[in-house]
Amino acid sequence: MAAIQKLYEVCKASLSEKGPSSPEAVENVRAVLDMITPSDVGLECEAQAVRVWRRPRVLNRKTVLHSSPAIRYRHIYECKSFSVSPINYLPTVMLFYLYLQHLYDCITISPLLSLVLLICFEVAQCPFTFSLQIGIYCIPASSIIPLHNHPGMTVLSKLLYGKVHVKAYDWIDIEEPGNLSKVRPAKVVRDGEISAPCAAMVLCPTGGGNVHALKAITPCAILDILSPPYSSKDGRHCSYFRRRQKSHPTGILWDRTRESEFVWLEEYQPRDNFVIRRDLYTGPTLEL
Ligand SMILES: [Fe+2]
Repeated sequence: MAAIQKLYEVCKASLSEKGPSSPEAVENVRAVLDMITPSDVGLECEAQAVRVWRRPRVLNRKTVLHSSPAIRYRHIYECKSFSVSPINYLPTVMLFYLYLQHLYDCITISPLLSLVLLICFEVAQCPFTFSLQIGIYCIPASSIIPLHNHPGMTVLSKLLYGKVHVKAYDWIDIEEPGNLSKVRPAKVVRDGEISAPCAAMVLCPTGGGNVHALKAITPCAILDILSPPYSSKDGRHCSYFRRRQKSHPTGILWDRTRESEFVWLEEYQPRDNFVIRRDLYTGPTLEL
């Protein structure tokens, strides 16, 4: 069995539609993810190239910034959990109903039957009780994925090749939010470089560095498993953050945390030149 297929199978067995069912489930996925190599996902040539990669001499910083290649995402698999709320399907049900009436003019088909048929169709698109996204970020040297969050999500990330700087934070809960809706305190949980081969990183909804930024030191690739995936309609929207320059006026955390142990983060919109382009996954195809 291909390594990526084995990874998919362990995800299917260990993840529910709301994420991992237990800490053991996370460890089961991580154990298989740790065994994945670039050649298992069609990235052997890229990994070879990085072994002899040398940082180019910077003659003109502006030229380098404008000509640097884009971050690319190689999509492998996604299955979002589905909603069976009839309201969501009402317009489609009505169209389906009218179509059937037109097709079988003399036959009366109840809207309820149409709804059942449609739900069966939707379920057939995603017949599993887990929601999951698997893909690979290929990041050129010096490119940055800005500080962003993974609300309500568990993420397992395996650096396949290259070297990357990771800075990660967890939110600090505060009992009196006051006017902190846009600026929140967070503690640093990771700030350093990692080089492949290395163990997979795991971040959870409330720990492990749920808010993180990546800067590629060399060209690198990261295999990501998101469980569940981003979904704005379910409240899992990706937001970007930056450090607030001046310290926040309130002393709300002073009693229990030293100022040096946390930062204030505010939401912002990244620059227009931050784009992630879709790329073709060239590894073994999954058998679903
Ligand atoms: Fe992330």
